[in-house]
Amino acid sequence: MKRPPNRSQPIYEGKAKILLPGPDSSTLIQHFKDDATAFNNKKRAKIEGKGVLNNLISEYLFQSLSDIGLANHFLHRINMREQLVRRLEMIPLEVIVRNVSAGSFAERYGCAEGTILPRSIVEYCLKDDNLCDPPVGEDHITAFGLAHPNELDDMLSLSLRANDFLQGIFRAIGLRLVDFKLEFGRSIEENGDVSVWLADEISPDTCRLWDRDSQEKYDKDRFRRDLGGVEDAYREVARRLKVLPDNSSLAAASKASTPRSAKLAPKVAELNKEV
Ligand SMILES: Nc1ncnc2c1ncn2[C@@H]1O[C@H](COP(=O)(O)OP(=O)(O)OP(=O)(O)O)[C@@H](O)[C@H]1O
Ligand SMILES: [Mg+2]
Repeated sequence: MKRPPNRSQPIYEGKAKILLPGPDSSTLIQHFKDDATAFNNKKRAKIEGKGVLNNLISEYLFQSLSDIGLANHFLHRINMREQLVRRLEMIPLEVIVRNVSAGSFAERYGCAEGTILPRSIVEYCLKDDNLCDPPVGEDHITAFGLAHPNELDDMLSLSLRANDFLQGIFRAIGLRLVDFKLEFGRSIEENGDVSVWLADEISPDTCRLWDRDSQEKYDKDRFRRDLGGVEDAYREVARRLKVLPDNSSLAAASKASTPRSAKLAPKVAELNKEV
């Protein structure tokens, strides 16, 4: 007899989130942690309240993308740190959309940080920490069997559509969407139909957001570059998006960092093999 999923056991623990089984096999719970990492895990810290803020910000952005009919995994928020998502077969790629030169792009191409790109540039990286997420082209992706050409087309058009929409959302709150990273997965219907859906998270961990007037950074670069005020910056993004709860519930939620389902077993390395 098939055993029901153990709700207390994580399926996977990543650097920023923990995945737990959802109420049925087609869903997952994404639990947002306060852990911050950069430079392929070489730099680490805990930023109190980050998980709560990213959960709220990502909920708002995915819900807004659902409102324009962009297929994505978000179902609903469960509590201040957790959201229910549809379980997808993840495509091991990071899709990066750039509107303004920054970070590794600025270095690699000698294009001064802050240069507005004449058109949005979409880049792909293989999602593999052991290889430091190397850049890959369409040929690598199809030759390695990571995604079918039709899926690549879908990822590209979903990314550009998300970019146009998100640029508008952030512009309305005085922020420039400099660049961001997306992840996609396959949704497989009972009749065997497969389609590509947007997954993971969209938050100041995965976007570069600069103030339109002051150019101040409101994203993970504050952590990467030791600029300080990381939590304040994330909180300001949440405040401008009007998803910030009152201070007392935020403080309570920040302290309650244990996944609702249980205390997590420390066998993370073993569990990670399952996803
Ligand atoms: N709908 C989904 N179904 C299945 N897996 C998902 C879904 N959405 C996101 N994931 C996966 O959940 C994991 C989330 O963990 P986390 O963000 O901590 O990532 P990570 O991959 O360990 O690290 P990083 O994002 O820093 O590279 C990722 O592996 C992501 O690909
Ligand atoms: Mg991640």
